[in-house]
Amino acid sequence: MRHRPQWRRVACGAAMLFAAAALATALAWNSIFEAVYNSQLALSPSSRSYREWVAPDVPLYLEIYLFNWTNPDDFPHQKPILAEVGPYRFREYRRHVNVSVYPNNGTIAYRTQRTWQFDEDTSEASLQDNITILNVIAASAAFRSRDWGFLKQKGLSLALAMFGHGMSVSKLAGELLFDGYEDPLIDLANSLPPSALGGAPKVDRFGLFYGRNNSIDTDGYMEVTSGSSSEIPGQIVRWDGHSSLPFYAGECAKMTGSAGEFMPHNLTESEPLTIFMSDLCRTVYMDYQESGTLEGIPYHKYVMNEATFDNSSSTDRNSCFCNGECLWSGVMNVSACRYGSPSFLSLPHFLHGDPDLLDKVEGLAPDPDLHTFYFAVEPRLGIPLDVSARFQYNVYLEPMPNIALYANVPKMLFPIFWVQQKVQVESKVLGELRIVRGVMDWGGTVCACAALAFAAILTVTSCCSSHCKKKDEIEKEKDEAELKLNPNNRS
Ligand SMILES: *[C@@H]1O[C@H](CO)[C@@H](O)[C@H](O)[C@H]1NC(C)=O
Ligand SMILES: *[C@@H]1O[C@H](CO)[C@@H](O)[C@H](O)[C@H]1NC(C)=O
Ligand SMILES: *[C@@H]1O[C@H](CO)[C@@H](O)[C@H](O)[C@H]1NC(C)=O
Ligand SMILES: *[C@@H]1O[C@H](CO)[C@@H](O)[C@H](O)[C@H]1NC(C)=O
Ligand SMILES: *[C@@H]1O[C@H](CO)[C@@H](O)[C@H](O)[C@H]1NC(C)=O
Ligand SMILES: *[C@@H]1O[C@H](CO)[C@@H](O)[C@H](O)[C@H]1NC(C)=O
Ligand SMILES: *[C@@H]1O[C@H](CO)[C@@H](O)[C@H](O)[C@H]1NC(C)=O
Repeated sequence: MRHRPQWRRVACGAAMLFAAAALATALAWNSIFEAVYNSQLALSPSSRSYREWVAPDVPLYLEIYLFNWTNPDDFPHQKPILAEVGPYRFREYRRHVNVSVYPNNGTIAYRTQRTWQFDEDTSEASLQDNITILNVIAASAAFRSRDWGFLKQKGLSLALAMFGHGMSVSKLAGELLFDGYEDPLIDLANSLPPSALGGAPKVDRFGLFYGRNNSIDTDGYMEVTSGSSSEIPGQIVRWDGHSSLPFYAGECAKMTGSAGEFMPHNLTESEPLTIFMSDLCRTVYMDYQESGTLEGIPYHKYVMNEATFDNSSSTDRNSCFCNGECLWSGVMNVSACRYGSPSFLSLPHFLHGDPDLLDKVEGLAPDPDLHTFYFAVEPRLGIPLDVSARFQYNVYLEPMPNIALYANVPKMLFPIFWVQQKVQVESKVLGELRIVRGVMDWGGTVCACAALAFAAILTVTSCCSSHCKKKDEIEKEKDEAELKLNPNNRS
């Protein structure tokens, strides 16, 4: 009989196969897990991670603190006294738009569009507040005239006086932030050729965040890895068409690291976390500070510390960011990527900054708990659990003998505002992450156990094979009988 059931041999074979497969899976568990996990993470239009990436539904908030200058009339005889007002809290809606996927080179290109809604209920300040800040328009115009001739500088000095520009401006908070305010100097600047403005786009108003709401240009055009081949997704490849930064030379021009959303796997304590930040127009190296757990999930905390924006005093790494003269430690000259305006970024309240910065103003009190910039990341899978992104925007002032308004100012950085964006993953996501980590940690063991179990079955089946012979004969007869009764069954 050709079709005699050979269940025992089949079972033996299957058990052997399963045992071998389970053993192989157990041995290769880490790579298998990595491959499956990466396929879920890759930014291809069908992946789950892609849908969440295009329009994240994690609630995001932008919190802005303005420095209200309370003694502008006494400047420069007295140090500016600054009073922090805020937070002005804005709910942020972030979307990735103009997304193009390029499977040929494993990249994905996109722009980021952000919309902000003022959140009246949780803000501790009103957009109707009367706030006094440094006159940023006049300070920028003066800075731009640094290498002009005497006559042109005198002309600017007169123009400032004529348009009634003083050292400070008092405006409503809403105008200073998103709405902007009109100024005759802007109209004047708009009539100049673009080269005189460092290529800055023409605007009709001035505001610290003017033009950013709904804009798709603020963060620039990002090209990142899609993670389709074995590499990590979301690593910067090009920014606004540049594959290295045009603002800096040497090492500082290097554009590497995460675009902020996907981190490398297997983070270590000795390696910095490398993130490209379009706000800073550079790659930032954040150092490991400590480890901890968040609801049972371990994390490594990476921070911006003294070394991050250090000038060459203690590390060489940053001197190429100075663009000439290295001024204070703990600040970053972003002039080159802000159309030549005298803009400097620092941590809030000049945390980790040169003591001279704090010495020139009153009312700042750096506090690591409130002002640190950190990323707490689950190290094995590189998932950010808790992030606080914080920056302070400052305007550079220096004495300009030919411009009356600035003839006697000290050389200093004038703090204008600081922002913070805090994101913590939700409990639901933490729960999922616990499962993923469980699968990762225990999957190999489970497979090894399965291999053992199948091996046991294998042994049992081959042992009993001799004892069960009789049963087999009976079954064979039964089969033949059945066949006679039901001949159609065969085909
Ligand atoms: C991370 O480490 C695990 C072993 O601990 C290894 O199997 C895995 O391939 C590593 N992943 C990467 C991306 O290096
Ligand atoms: C800002 O300072 C000015 C001048 O001292 C004061 O009149 C104004 O009320 C302050 N604004 C807020 C919101 O505290
Ligand atoms: C980019 O997206 C915006 C908004 O979704 C759209 O208005 C614009 O036409 C797109 N631009 C390109 C070049 O696709
Ligand atoms: C990837 O390929 C696309 C289409 O061929 C091209 O437009 C794009 O510039 C490439 N990106 C990089 C980073 O090479
Ligand atoms: C941003 O634009 C939206 C409309 O697209 C508007 O509802 C919102 O109030 C604006 N936000 C601010 C801060 O002006
Ligand atoms: C804001 O306060 C300044 C003085 O601190 C005052 O001169 C100005 O008129 C006030 N502006 C408004 C709109 O109330
Ligand atoms: C900041 O950098 C720009 C060019 O990148 C440079 O022209 C300017 O002098 C620097 N600012 C200061 C205060 O050194």
